Amino acid sequence: MCGIVGYIGNQDAKEILLKGLEKLEYRGYDSAGIAVINEAGVHLFKEKGRIAELRKIVDTEVSATVGIGHTRWATHGKPNKINAHPHQSASERFTIVHNGVIENYELLIEEFLSDVTFKSDTDTEVIVQLVEKFVNEGLEVKEAFRKTLSKLEGSYAIAMIDRHNKETIYVAKNKSPLLIGLGDGFNVVASDAMAMLQVTKEFVELMDKEMVIVSEDNVQILSLTGENVERKPFIAKLDASDIEKGTYPHYMLKEIDEQPIVIRKIVKEYSDNQGDLQIDQAIVDAVKAADRLYIVAAGTSYHAGMIGKNFFERLAKIPTEVHVASEFVYNTPLLTKKPLFIFISQSGETADSRAVLVKIKELGYNALTITNVPGSTLSREADHTLLLHAGPEIAVASTKAYTAQVAVLAILAQVVAKGKNIDTKIDLSRELSIVASAMETLCDHREDFEKMAREFLTDARNAFFIGRGLDYAVCLEGALKLKEISYIQAEGFAGGELKHGPIALIEDGTPVFALATQENVNLNIRGNVKEVVSRGANACIISMKGLEMKGDAFVLPEVHPILTPLISVIPLQFISYYAALHRGCDVDKPRNLAKSVTVE
Ligand code: F6R
Repeated sequence: MCGIVGYIGNQDAKEILLKGLEKLEYRGYDSAGIAVINEAGVHLFKEKGRIAELRKIVDTEVSATVGIGHTRWATHGKPNKINAHPHQSASERFTIVHNGVIENYELLIEEFLSDVTFKSDTDTEVIVQLVEKFVNEGLEVKEAFRKTLSKLEGSYAIAMIDRHNKETIYVAKNKSPLLIGLGDGFNVVASDAMAMLQVTKEFVELMDKEMVIVSEDNVQILSLTGENVERKPFIAKLDASDIEKGTYPHYMLKEIDEQPIVIRKIVKEYSDNQGDLQIDQAIVDAVKAADRLYIVAAGTSYHAGMIGKNFFERLAKIPTEVHVASEFVYNTPLLTKKPLFIFISQSGETADSRAVLVKIKELGYNALTITNVPGSTLSREADHTLLLHAGPEIAVASTKAYTAQVAVLAILAQVVAKGKNIDTKIDLSRELSIVASAMETLCDHREDFEKMAREFLTDARNAFFIGRGLDYAVCLEGALKLKEISYIQAEGFAGGELKHGPIALIEDGTPVFALATQENVNLNIRGNVKEVVSRGANACIISMKGLEMKGDAFVLPEVHPILTPLISVIPLQFISYYAALHRGCDVDKPRNLAKSVTVE
């Protein structure tokens, strides 16, 4: 969480930094700030709230060609103006932006900075105060910066400027993502390539525990022990238009609509010249060799993992467990002899999942990451990667990445099944193209889902989603979607569990969304709906063609029963979107959240 940018070159830095921060707002939007240097000194602007608020207070008269910027998701210290970045050292000589968490900041204050009066409640301020302390003790700035980094424990992506030197931005990275962008007569720093596509497509990746001295015509990467590091740049495959909303009012709506295209793209990317599904043989062998798969993920990706478990067990006949990353890391279950870990992460940066990856690598196990972001931390650090090919997902609430994860998991399970000579009796390419068409049909029905949102959720205090089997996993996802963007308290329950407690919550008018796409439990889930309706619930049944019954609110087009999660989630995404919209919520940037959760 938090996004950082930096610019050093020949153009006005302010606008480039602000535009960059706008592209990084998905990483946090509690407060924001920029600092630029010119002959007159450092000009610092920061504000609580969004970049739009920051823009209002940036002095347009100030002209400078060097600067750094930050958009914050608060960890240490309230989201207010004082705790907003950039932060400055006591004499205001050094100014810093930081993404990450300095775990030992209190110890560092005790050991080195007990005589310094801190201006903020952040862990970040320790970094900039330490640099100044070491400079005051006689070190060159570069050495003071390096010495400071050697004292830090935790995660950081840092950019720092020095009032006495307009020619340099000091940069460092450990565990938090950071790239250097290269240009003609300028260089830039960014948490994510998207922020700087406005000026360049050429980037250099940084590794953990590296520092970089960036000037307008040079980029020097150094290890923390002082050796020069050579690294080739890469060209970002993104296009600036990939991250624009176009005519859509919100990214979330655009991303819901993109799902049919994404599913078709995935089938294409994972097909050989004959049109047969294929996956890198090393990955297939790794999955085949495992006596158990351990899927590790968070949030929506965890919900995709629940569906993946079904695929691996039903198609490839491999026992599979699904774990919430933040639980697994400190409460590791007994592992089998030959486990394979599968990390599912849209961003590839989720700290909870990474903590598990680090742990299982220490134990000597192999890992596969399924992610949307090539070169992301989880991708780099795992043995294998499968990409989602979903294109950038900007809305905080995940939609197309979820369906992409489900589709890639299905393809992996199918290809592994084939590798094990198991006939799944499914022509998966064909079934996925049927899914893509069904998704299109559903997108054309958005008005029905808007009506449902209006009818069931306008005045709702809470809402429940019930289902069985695959539908239960989708219900968890539907409830997460609704609660995170509309702030309606929403919970997903296994239909059969209601009578063991949750049914006590049902009152007159309580909205209950029920999914009925699984033939083997169709009558059971309908029985559960009757139980809640007889206690006053306002039920909305979404069923599958062939399983529909009188009174169902919506009938989904028929797809292969194992692939229903790819389409039953779409009405729930739309319903959440419209419920949030009707309530005047900020759909793309819900409160308290960030897209990329890089703290544990
Ligand atoms: C909810 C959502 C989150 C993420 C979770 C994991 O809409 O997007 O629950 O799924 O934070 O993120 P990734 O997939 O990037 O690891």
